[in-house]
Amino acid sequence: MRMRNKYRKPTTLRCNAGSRCSFSVVVWSLVGCLLLLHLSSNFNHKDGGGRGVQLRITHHPQFRELQEVEEENIQIPPPRGKRSPRAAKRRPKRTTTLIDEFLDENSQLRHIFFPGRKRAIDPLKNAGNDSYYYYPGRIWLDTDGNPIQAHGGGILYEKYSKTYYWYGEYKDGPTYHAHKKGPARVDIIGVGCYSSKDLWTWKNEGIVLAAKETNETHDLHKSNVLERPKVVYNDKTGKYVMWMHIDDANYTKAAVGVAVSDTPDGPFDYLGSQRPHGYESRDMTIFKDDDGLAYIVYSSEDNSELHIGPLTEDYLNVTSVMRRVLVGQHREAPALFKHQGTYYMITSGCTGWAPNEALVHAAESILGPWETMGNPCMGGNKMFRLTTFFSQSTFVLPLPGFPGSFIFIADRWNPADLRDSRYVWLPLIVAGPADQPLEYTFEFPLWSRVSIYWHRKWRLPQGWAGFK
Ligand code: GAL
Repeated sequence: MRMRNKYRKPTTLRCNAGSRCSFSVVVWSLVGCLLLLHLSSNFNHKDGGGRGVQLRITHHPQFRELQEVEEENIQIPPPRGKRSPRAAKRRPKRTTTLIDEFLDENSQLRHIFFPGRKRAIDPLKNAGNDSYYYYPGRIWLDTDGNPIQAHGGGILYEKYSKTYYWYGEYKDGPTYHAHKKGPARVDIIGVGCYSSKDLWTWKNEGIVLAAKETNETHDLHKSNVLERPKVVYNDKTGKYVMWMHIDDANYTKAAVGVAVSDTPDGPFDYLGSQRPHGYESRDMTIFKDDDGLAYIVYSSEDNSELHIGPLTEDYLNVTSVMRRVLVGQHREAPALFKHQGTYYMITSGCTGWAPNEALVHAAESILGPWETMGNPCMGGNKMFRLTTFFSQSTFVLPLPGFPGSFIFIADRWNPADLRDSRYVWLPLIVAGPADQPLEYTFEFPLWSRVSIYWHRKWRLPQGWAGFK
């Protein structure tokens, strides 16, 4: 297993990529590193199952808690009875792996991946020790006591009311296959919206963009596909703009839709769909940069590459600028974030509802070039890390007041019953040196390592503004 030592981020030495640092700078960096190594040996931290000493970006005890590497040791039970067809189709002659168990609706381990209602995260019962804990994979109830329906979603922070809005696919309908070989689906119901002050207690704000029941030619007709809605606020127009993946049941339309609202809790007016820049667009996201420019990122060319391009000033359209990135890498489910001027993006592989390995990519300019840094997942066990903790990325939310700290937001899809898909929220920390050289130049990058830490349960740092 590769050692992943973590050091406190040294004062950044900014040499432009490709340029040579002078001899004295190199010597002083070495001296600095030695000093840091010496310092690090004075800290007594959990070594995360043989991963070496970890120095935290902050000494706040709750941050230490977040960065602890928590191992999982799940025993795979001996085969019993018949496998469900979904599990049987995969690797029929190999020994059973945890992912086979995950995909098997009849697995004895089902309750580990999809715990029942009794273990739901219930904001109405938040007294005592369980207050404000996130339990990845558990059913998460809104303040009415109903499971939150915001899959493939994203979160918008409305700074005037200090309120978070969580938008996502409202999938509370029966799962079926439109075609024998097609993926499992739920008819479009619409985009669900939930609001919260603390990122833990969520009030249902209703369906802010609803399906069309009868108009079969409409993009939002229930027989189509509406996925991965994301909302950004346009400071110039004062409008809330929603972008989403629009498709037909066979995923051949491959388009993006746009909707707009005067208020974050809708209703949103649907403006129509297009193939951005004339290309196929499936999994997608929107990213609003510090300078007010917003970008669309989408999987294209049969999901073999991603395209990134700025939106128009009003965020209602794409411009003519577009760059192809991660060409030939077959990535989807993009989730972008920025830290200290560097852009980061988490993506998944393309395996439908089945989980796969996440990768993190980084770039100095959002239009690229983008470098792949490796798998950000820490802890759990190998299978947890190779399946992104049995989930797929959808969004990364900065934690205000704690630079370098984010919440990684992912979906644990349940293809047998999509409405029962779960949310995996975990701490994502940008700190310490990247552990892989750049792909093309073999130099070490300037950017930091991105780590997503597995926890069975965890909570936001106490000093966090939302809990004041
Ligand atoms: C995944 C994608 C999901 C959904 C699913 C359908 O690859 O990330 O958003 O489209 O396929 O099978």
